[in-house]
Amino acid sequence: MLHFLAVFFLQAYAIQQRLDLPCEDQELSDQCSKECRNDYISCFANCESSYCNSECLEVFQDCDASCPCGLSCPGGCANCDHELCQARCHDAHENNDEYRLCFYDALFQHNMCLKECPASAACHELCFDIYSDKMATCPCMETETTSTSVPTTTEIVTTSNAVSTTGATSTTSSSSPITPIARLDDCTLNELTVRLNKDREYGHAALSIDNGEKALICFGESGEKTCEIFDGSTTVSTFASNWTHKYGGLGLYKNQPASVGCFSEEHQKAETLSASGWTSLPDHPKRISSHSLVGLENQSMLLIGGQDWGNGGLQSRIWQLKDENWNQFCELLQADYEGSASYIGRSIYYFGYKSKAIERLDFNEAEDLQNVEQIGNQPSNFYLPVLFQTVSNYCI
Ligand SMILES: *[C@@H]1O[C@H](CO)[C@@H](O)[C@H](O)[C@H]1NC(C)=O
Ligand SMILES: *[C@@H]1O[C@H](CO)[C@@H](O)[C@H](O)[C@H]1NC(C)=O
Repeated sequence: MLHFLAVFFLQAYAIQQRLDLPCEDQELSDQCSKECRNDYISCFANCESSYCNSECLEVFQDCDASCPCGLSCPGGCANCDHELCQARCHDAHENNDEYRLCFYDALFQHNMCLKECPASAACHELCFDIYSDKMATCPCMETETTSTSVPTTTEIVTTSNAVSTTGATSTTSSSSPITPIARLDDCTLNELTVRLNKDREYGHAALSIDNGEKALICFGESGEKTCEIFDGSTTVSTFASNWTHKYGGLGLYKNQPASVGCFSEEHQKAETLSASGWTSLPDHPKRISSHSLVGLENQSMLLIGGQDWGNGGLQSRIWQLKDENWNQFCELLQADYEGSASYIGRSIYYFGYKSKAIERLDFNEAEDLQNVEQIGNQPSNFYLPVLFQTVSNYCI
């Protein structure tokens, strides 16, 4: 009976305290108050004196006041250092839906803005400013406590002379061109004096060609269709594609580079590069981007994961382009995008960005799929990680 009384009393107290305070973060506030109430009830249950009862009540009042939306934190999580507020910003990109929605909104607006831009750097910068302003209103922007998601190398590589051209560079001075080429020598990334011909900050793709002798680097900005070939000492421009393929990737189809879809134009066009230029391949069934492309030795190409712009979702599907036809091949165990894949010794290793999962697809000698298995998790969200094959504990 006493317990019920206590609960009623506390609810009345809580309601009275909060009534006139409209407050964001109501959900966290409720969760917090509930925890305080539960603590109070167990505290009260162990009391035998009225002194003890009032001690419990005092603890409860302090507890409740410190909650988001409580007396000490009337603005919710704004200016409130309650641990629940801090926890919700830990790895916000992963865990906090409100932050994620806000981020995707900002990204969407940024994209729409860029699509309207003529070929003017000023317009692109303006879009970035709009993006930054929007991001500044997102929860957690000041308080993120993280684990950062900077791309890093992991344990697998495809080329012996690994060439990295990803936009791992920080973007503090957004006006200087993003054209570095760095080489991994032992455990150090050394920036070379040779530069890319084109600014390719993000959304571009690179593929090792000519048995690892050269790298083909294409795309980047919205509308960017150019490609260049780096042979270890110089970069030479080569054929531009007909369609732009920002985040459309590069993979081998019938031993020739191919790219599929696009992030900004959201098209479903696929093209392949031969000695005489780009020619079209059959459209992908989805408007897709941010997948990984892997060429099998038997001339078919797999498209793994990605963002389906038809319904906006991450996809777990693996598609196959074989004999000029797209078909559904199999499924990843977890939907993912912005990951990287590498085909080594009849196994494809896929490192997902969102799920952090590392999945392995095993094939037999005839390249028939045998098994799909999750073999581990990455310690954090690595965005389009650069993969290369190496021995364990290399560079640690
Ligand atoms: C080339 O791309 C343009 C749009 O960028 C498109 O209108 C045209 O149909 C494309 N041509 C081919 C052969 O795909
Ligand atoms: C290549 O291997 C894949 C994967 O097992 C298989 O589905 C496909 O039929 C093969 N393609 C050809 C052209 O043999």
